[in-house]
Amino acid sequence: MTKEKIKVAILGGSGYTAIELIKILLRHPQAEIVAVTSRQDDHIADLHPSLLGRLDLRCEPFDADALKAKCVQVAFGCLPHGTSMEAIPPLLDREIRVVDLSADYRLRDAKIYQEWYKEPHLDAANLAHAVYGLPELIGDKIAGAKLIANPGCYPQTGILGLAPLVARGLIELTGIIIDSKSGVSGGGRSPKLAFHFPECNESVSAYSVGTHRHTPEIEQALSDVAGKPVSVIFTPHLIPMDRGILSTIYATPTRAVTESELHELYRSFYAGKPFVRVRTNPPATKDTVGTNFLDVCVKVVQGKVLVITAEDNLIRGASGVAVQNFNRMFGFDERMGLM
Ligand SMILES: NC(=O)c1ccc[n+]([C@@H]2O[C@H](COP(=O)([O-])OP(=O)(O)OC[C@H]3O[C@@H](n4cnc5c(N)ncnc54)[C@H](OP(=O)(O)O)[C@@H]3O)[C@@H](O)[C@H]2O)c1
Repeated sequence: MTKEKIKVAILGGSGYTAIELIKILLRHPQAEIVAVTSRQDDHIADLHPSLLGRLDLRCEPFDADALKAKCVQVAFGCLPHGTSMEAIPPLLDREIRVVDLSADYRLRDAKIYQEWYKEPHLDAANLAHAVYGLPELIGDKIAGAKLIANPGCYPQTGILGLAPLVARGLIELTGIIIDSKSGVSGGGRSPKLAFHFPECNESVSAYSVGTHRHTPEIEQALSDVAGKPVSVIFTPHLIPMDRGILSTIYATPTRAVTESELHELYRSFYAGKPFVRVRTNPPATKDTVGTNFLDVCVKVVQGKVLVITAEDNLIRGASGVAVQNFNRMFGFDERMGLM
């Protein structure tokens, strides 16, 4: 361990991913939170009372020079997409490394970003060197990265759920169905009608059918694994629970496969990857809540391959994997602060 802790800033301090990140970093032996930015001029514990007595910081407006003056070495961006790509260039210019939790740097092609996010990408220069931070698939590229595009919550359940099959050419690369359910915290803390208690409680609904913005992210990552184009039908659902994502994935095998063969494939593919747990029984979201684990189970039913994955959208889906990336960027054990 180094003597000096890494000085960290959190951008967008009042949100859900920010509070999770702060709580993880407070128990991380190599990180020191020196700044939290917000548009609200409040003590961080006024925004998140669970931090009372744990983090004595007043939020500050975003100012890259002020963060540099505090010797910030890495900033975690917990901002909405669009806002992130405005905040990040001045940080990189000042040699502050960034882990961006938004979607702004996940899609390599700015045209695809514009097509799905309905706004132009404003920072093509940094997009060109951003590293998609899914440690289980591209772990060796993270250490040298200045800008990590932290992967999306839903995408991780689809990508990690399918990567072993795609890597071995064991499934057809079109017509893959990813049926996902997410808790309401997936929509963030800012109030939105669909997430209002009487709207979503005691109800389950599909949304963004055929148009959800995580679709191209899943396809990009899986196409990288396959070395050829992969397309998926991704349908997200809102479930009346606080947190957690469960995805059930259906794929057509390219040859006859058995469950035990696929289970062994997953075990060997994820050997040495501490945060992917390969299970023989289908996982529940509750098994992963509050942890950085993504649980996966593979089954064969009537000749189709079914993969069921579960994670905590706010930890594995966002802040936990962000710290996993931070650990790899600075050469720490990737489990530090996360077990
Ligand atoms: N929620 C999830 O499960 C999840 C999972 C993976 C990735 N993500 C991504 O992570 C990012 C943060 O998500 P979240 O769930 O933490 O969202 P959130 O709870 O809504 O928090 C985002 C924070 O960003 C700040 N903000 C909002 N609009 C802004 C603007 N126009 N200019 C500057 N700051 C603004 C606000 O902080 P202040 O009011 O303090 O300024 C807000 O609290 C998003 O890009 C999201 O897509 C979320």
